Amino acid sequence: MRLHGKTALVTGAARGIGLEFARAYISEGARVALADINADAVAKAAASLGPQAMAVQMDVTRQESIDAGFAAAIAHMGHLDILINNAALFSAAPIAEITRADYDKLFAVNVAGTLFCLQTAARHMIARGQGGTIINMASQAGRRGESLVAVYCATKAAVISLTQSAGLNLIQHGINVNAIAPGVVDGEHWDGVDAFFAKYEGKAPGQKKREVGAAVPFGRMGTAADLTGMAIFLATPEARYIVAQTFGVDGGNWMA
Ligand SMILES: NC(=O)c1ccc[n+]([C@@H]2O[C@H](COP(=O)([O-])OP(=O)(O)OC[C@H]3O[C@@H](n4cnc5c(N)ncnc54)[C@H](O)[C@@H]3O)[C@@H](O)[C@H]2O)c1
Repeated sequence: MRLHGKTALVTGAARGIGLEFARAYISEGARVALADINADAVAKAAASLGPQAMAVQMDVTRQESIDAGFAAAIAHMGHLDILINNAALFSAAPIAEITRADYDKLFAVNVAGTLFCLQTAARHMIARGQGGTIINMASQAGRRGESLVAVYCATKAAVISLTQSAGLNLIQHGINVNAIAPGVVDGEHWDGVDAFFAKYEGKAPGQKKREVGAAVPFGRMGTAADLTGMAIFLATPEARYIVAQTFGVDGGNWMA
């Protein structure tokens, strides 16, 4: 029960890594607001986790939706100790085929969404005066460009940079901002990634997944559950001296 009495909001929590983080936090004693643009899915996800979970319909690209979602979560739980900025979109295309619409969509969710959810949480935490924890979901894709993944990689590099700036700015208020950079995590997200590579590299469905899994030094793709240990640790007092860092949890895929 390392998070007993704590409250958290997780964006993009209707499925995948965000849902697994919500489950892990509840098992450690926290109450969690699961926020997602997909109202039906997030309602089902929260219901599956029991009374310590609540669902919030939130589009992280719209400030009024962010404001309303945080207000509902804080009204229900009393305050907010932890934000996990997890909502994101993925796309892939050769440089010659990238569209402005796709660029705008990914930056709106992955970068602006991260910054303005972080800002909203930070304003509440500063006013409350008891510090807090903010965890941004970066990616190994933010460490190094990839031939077919320019826009997504750039958004995740921006998340790493925002983590550094926000970490430096907010630690004076006792708010620790750090990021987790997963490698390749199996789930519905990677089913979509696999489909992009099937299209652009002519691979059979599932082939890209098998290839990236085999290339991980650990020997397989990650699971959402492989990431929960870091997400829990970063929200505990033992992590209080850790500021503005991005941690690879990727089976050994990336090294500084
Ligand atoms: N799965 C991986 O291999 C992997 C690797 C590295 C990083 N990541 C990162 O981890 C995080 C979670 O990944 P995942 O695999 O669980 O992704 P996912 O696609 O399964 O889940 C993302 C969730 O975000 C929600 N969402 C999308 N747009 C939104 C918006 N505008 N407002 C609110 N919610 C919105 C979706 O509805 C979905 O429930 C993401 O930030 C992703 O970039 C994932």
